[in-house]
Amino acid sequence: MEDNYKIPRHVAIIMDGNGRWAKKRLLPRKAGHIQGARTVEQICEDAYNLGIEYLTVYAFSTENWNRPDDEVEALMNLLRKYMLDAIERCSKNNMRVRVIGDKSRLAPDIQDSIAELEVKSSVNTGLKFNIAINYGGRDEIVRAARAFAMDVKEGRVEPEALTEDMFHNYMDTHGMPYPDLMIRTSGECRTSNYLPWQLCYSEFYFTDVLWPDFNKKELQKALDYYNKRDRRFGGV
Ligand code: IPE
Ligand code: IPE
Ligand code: MG
Repeated sequence: MEDNYKIPRHVAIIMDGNGRWAKKRLLPRKAGHIQGARTVEQICEDAYNLGIEYLTVYAFSTENWNRPDDEVEALMNLLRKYMLDAIERCSKNNMRVRVIGDKSRLAPDIQDSIAELEVKSSVNTGLKFNIAINYGGRDEIVRAARAFAMDVKEGRVEPEALTEDMFHNYMDTHGMPYPDLMIRTSGECRTSNYLPWQLCYSEFYFTDVLWPDFNKKELQKALDYYNKRDRRFGGV
């Protein structure tokens, strides 16, 4: 790596293509999600070794409830298992895990596991890993607006005092830097309701690789792409 090679501080990923990966192998879609979950674990390790500080992955969108019941159930079971395993593993891998999205619609036992994982891993100093579950960017903005309106109603803050930074404090990603780089796998070039507020000035990298096939080499390619970009932030 060259001396001036820039490592993005925060990388956001839309992990897409699990279903197509399975279909290509004549397997049920669920098999793609299982393989995709393995990829996430490996990528967390790779991201940390590459020097990435924050990694935020899209695991389940507010729109994904529209999938067939058996697929939603399979995804929820995978998330349930992931949380339980992560509670055991987080002391070893030193990851600080947070879940973004509206957790209130998740099964109570999953909510409990998430709470336990967030508390237990909060002391860790390694990768700051965020998982978006029942996450929708529009929903997040509406929830933030509602929370701000409540504070106004209760007399805790004046409407005129609101700034962009203050509004971000009401959002699920409060306290985190905005993503520098957003990666989407599987060839789709859209954001599908992912982090609309936070990605305003991020670089976007799209690859045809399906999520279960994504690996350190592919992540490195995304970082190489990022390094060729000239981030101007509206300047010259
Ligand atoms: C991404 O893979 C995982 C989730 C959305 C949960 P998909 O399940 O969307 O896979 P494709 O897009 O159908 O291939
Ligand atoms: C986005 O992928 C959501 C996740 C990766 C969790 P989708 O596969 O649900 O998005 P669309 O339907 O192609 O836009
Ligand atoms: Mg998809």
